[in-house]
Amino acid sequence: MSQAKRVDRERLEKFFFRVANQVSAGFNCSLSALGDRLGLYKALADVGPVNSDELAEHTGLHERWLREWLRHQACVGQVDYADGRFGLSPEAEIVLAEEDHAFFFASGFNAVTATYPAIPRLPDAFRTGLGLTYDDHGAACACNLERMSGHLQRTELVPKLLPEVDGIVGKLEAGAAVADVGCGSGTALLAMAEAFPASTFTGYDTSNHALENARRNLAASGVENARVVNPTGEPMPDAPTFDLVTTFDVVHDTTHPAELIRAIRNALKDDGVWVCADIRSFPTFEQNLAEHPMAALLYGFSVTVCMSASMSTPDGAGLGTLGFNEEVARGMTGDAGFSRFEVLEYGNAMNAFYDIRP
Ligand SMILES: C[S@@+](CC[C@H](N)C(=O)[O-])C[C@H]1O[C@@H](n2cnc3c(N)ncnc32)[C@H](O)[C@@H]1O
Repeated sequence: MSQAKRVDRERLEKFFFRVANQVSAGFNCSLSALGDRLGLYKALADVGPVNSDELAEHTGLHERWLREWLRHQACVGQVDYADGRFGLSPEAEIVLAEEDHAFFFASGFNAVTATYPAIPRLPDAFRTGLGLTYDDHGAACACNLERMSGHLQRTELVPKLLPEVDGIVGKLEAGAAVADVGCGSGTALLAMAEAFPASTFTGYDTSNHALENARRNLAASGVENARVVNPTGEPMPDAPTFDLVTTFDVVHDTTHPAELIRAIRNALKDDGVWVCADIRSFPTFEQNLAEHPMAALLYGFSVTVCMSASMSTPDGAGLGTLGFNEEVARGMTGDAGFSRFEVLEYGNAMNAFYDIRP
């Protein structure tokens, strides 16, 4: 080892524990996904603080397994421990157990573990450059996305987001043509179709798993003004058709974002609007590294899912999860012939929302 690389013992130990904590985060995703799936956070919210015997009695699960799980959860700081009892703080209750709260994120653990089966296929992707499509991950990927983005789309899209978009609510009430591109499991489509029965809604998605979920969700709801299609068989019309196009976390994922943006422009009427949600990030990696509170999480999703999907054709753009930020979006939409670009006030830690017009 060269003089310049001489190891500082204290820094070595510090770095070792830093890495050990990251290794531990891997176990935490698995064990918290399990807790979420078994309803343990909801049970703790309902009956906590409890000891493991009481939790076993409440859930019907095996006490020894629960005791070890609770101890793990206390060690990572997700569950509080005092006097032999385990419980959730009011904040932990929201993030881990309140499915319809904007800060609910227990679904994130499962979104991470659902990427584990893809890992053996990624060394090849690093060699060839070719990533996995959404459907290469199996049905789990579409289901996890549905759960992660569902809250906003079910409870905030119609009452909070759309009223911020100048003139759109009146048009939707009167009867408008709407496309949700990259509609996933159809949650946004369904929320809008139920709220605006005089309008018609078309969802486009290239993932057959997502389309299957969307068709099931639409059929269960009984709405008759919404349908979903795969644009590889039925592309968006190449003529001004839609009053509103929405995309929720799609452009950074797609293999050909410039072509998709141009297709949206061509399908939009001249007085139409594109409401685009995409991942909030800074224009430079240096800023993401220094200031983005979720940069590591988002780069993790990028390598395993988003950038991978965007590289799933040999000429894929590979924008990546943090790659369609405001600066890039302004440039690419301007290049495609859009002349107005506004950032909507509505937004959250993960997403920025843009009002984009011809
Ligand atoms: C991150 S998911 C978001 C799904 C949904 N909008 C939501 O918020 O849950 C991105 C979706 O875009 C779809 N997608 C990617 N490129 C597309 C394209 N060119 N046309 C239609 N769908 C596309 C993917 O299949 C995937 O379902």
